[in-house]
Amino acid sequence: MKILVIISSTHMGNTRKIAEAMAKNAPVTIAEIDSVSEHDLRDYDIVGLGSGIYFGKHDAKIIDFAENLSDTSTPYMFVFSTSGTGNLDKNNKPLIDLLKSKNKIVLGSFGCKAFDKFGPFKLVGGINKGRPNENDYKQARMFIESVMQKYKDLNTKTVK
Ligand SMILES: Cc1cc2nc3c(=O)[nH]c(=O)nc-3n(C[C@H](O)[C@H](O)[C@H](O)COP(=O)(O)O)c2cc1C
Repeated sequence: MKILVIISSTHMGNTRKIAEAMAKNAPVTIAEIDSVSEHDLRDYDIVGLGSGIYFGKHDAKIIDFAENLSDTSTPYMFVFSTSGTGNLDKNNKPLIDLLKSKNKIVLGSFGCKAFDKFGPFKLVGGINKGRPNENDYKQARMFIESVMQKYKDLNTKTVK
């Protein structure tokens, strides 16, 4: 099994840290959004898309990439994010819905709070200092294991 995790992690590198935690226990290759094209997806069974949340959304480049996916790339995908709020459902839903509209099967959604010193938070030294932390990395590793398990379940043929 081969997994490609595509990230945009421009603010503090928080999302990259989560991707690196996933790569510890799983056959994950990490790629920056600027360095991938859909052509690169052909060798992978599962593709994950992750970024920080900027003004309520995933990075525009991640959204643009998802909008341009065709039926030729793997249908098995997952979504993750890091953010100031850690509001997983609200933050990830638009990208999940977009992927579903492109006939992709979303195997999971992950998110966590992360260090944020944007705008007014800079004045107070930032919020969520120390995040992501060891527990977030553990959750990320458990998440990628659940994604792999779902992929296996969907691809196991029942012999009668
Ligand atoms: C320009 C900008 C806008 C942001 N907007 C939000 C937001 O709308 N909601 C939120 O929860 N966090 C927001 N954040 C915090 C980031 O989502 C958070 O720090 C995230 O972990 C950054 O990920 P990265 O370090 O991988 O880029 C914003 C940060 C920046 C720099």
